[in-house]
Amino acid sequence: MQNFDLHNPTHIVFGARTVARLDELVPTKARVLILYGGDSARRTGTLAEVRAALGERDVYEFGGIEPNPSYETLMRAVELIRWEGMDFLLAVGGGSVIDGTKFVAAAVGYEGDPWEIMETHGATVRGALPFGSVLTLPATGSEMNSGSVVSKNATKAKLVFSSPHVFPRFSILDPTKTYSLPLSQVANGVVDAFTHVMEQYMTYPADGFVQDRFAEGLLQTLVEIGLQVLSEPDNYNARANLMWAATMGLNGLIAAGVPEDWSTHMIGHELTALHGIDHARTLAIVLPANMEVRREAKRGKLLQYAGRVWRLTEGSEEQRIDAAIARTRMFFESLGVPTRLREYGIGASQIGAVISQLEAHGMTALGERQDVTLAVSRRILEAGL
Ligand code: NZQ
Ligand code: ZN
Repeated sequence: MQNFDLHNPTHIVFGARTVARLDELVPTKARVLILYGGDSARRTGTLAEVRAALGERDVYEFGGIEPNPSYETLMRAVELIRWEGMDFLLAVGGGSVIDGTKFVAAAVGYEGDPWEIMETHGATVRGALPFGSVLTLPATGSEMNSGSVVSKNATKAKLVFSSPHVFPRFSILDPTKTYSLPLSQVANGVVDAFTHVMEQYMTYPADGFVQDRFAEGLLQTLVEIGLQVLSEPDNYNARANLMWAATMGLNGLIAAGVPEDWSTHMIGHELTALHGIDHARTLAIVLPANMEVRREAKRGKLLQYAGRVWRLTEGSEEQRIDAAIARTRMFFESLGVPTRLREYGIGASQIGAVISQLEAHGMTALGERQDVTLAVSRRILEAGL
């Protein structure tokens, strides 16, 4: 096992009817800016519930943070805060709103051009406004981690930053808030959470026995409840387990002491930036193709995955690896998430542009061994056609 340093300061409040707890979680004298997305927070009544819980505090709103939040929109929130002087942020929404709030929190006091935060992947962040979140979409883990993904429309760049300054102070996870989600977003959440676990597990054996068993438990849980969260949208226990699995999938726990890959995400981000495909759907395309192309480097873990997650114990090593990759693809497809580029209207002639963007963003040595060169990324995309 590798050495590690693990510190996660986010206070989680989990369960039905927990939005009222905001009153004890947000400082009494805070001047609060609520940040939210399109219309869902208002339509579902969550925004009104949040405002009621904040009582007499000075409360402002900033709506319109889009899926795959844009730098352009977020900078309007930064200007508003610099003008009005709010001192506490509250994200109400999914990963995009929480990620956007992290960027805003770091950008308000940033000296220099805030886009540098993204270009340096967070290395230059020296502080951030405090913030909390009310999660409405289980998927990204953003509610309990220090990462954020922001896009610049002007250049079609989708970049990641992380900083210990942008852990949420608290996150409220009420599974009943997910009942109103379109089923396609629920399916996206299952695929995103599954892929997060895979990015931290499907590398090479590193004797992280605990981490491996945690990861396999999360993967098996997602397989077990994947169809149920779609067919029984108001099954509380299914939604609660999805919510907690997604949070645990990317809060630092399973990554501690083991190698990480993340090439599926980096390639996927370029597909979203260029073609507007939902984040999780890009992962459903890239992950099976990635495992196929890098099957030699990942052989040990692929066999472990086949045996422990899918109970594939018969046949040769090649057959078990083939079957495990096929099961992964079938699982995503069973959720209604297509796994081929062609199903999103993308053909071989468009791969070159994706490779150019990876190059422009310095994504030339990805993966747990930094051996995913542009040539390997190209083979992965070709395998995903
Ligand atoms: O905008 P509104 O109207 O609120 O609608 C949203 C949005 O259209 C809707 N929605 C959210 N909660 C709802 C709801 N609709 C009805 N009822 C509810 N309760 O869902 C749509 C998608 O929301 P979004 O926040 O974009 O989805 P998600 O949580 O999947 O976030 C995706 C973003 O997170 C980034 C992705 O790259 C992408 O930009 N990621 C962030 C990570 C992190 N911070 O650690 C890791 C991930 O790998 C991921 O990259
Ligand atoms: Zn993701």
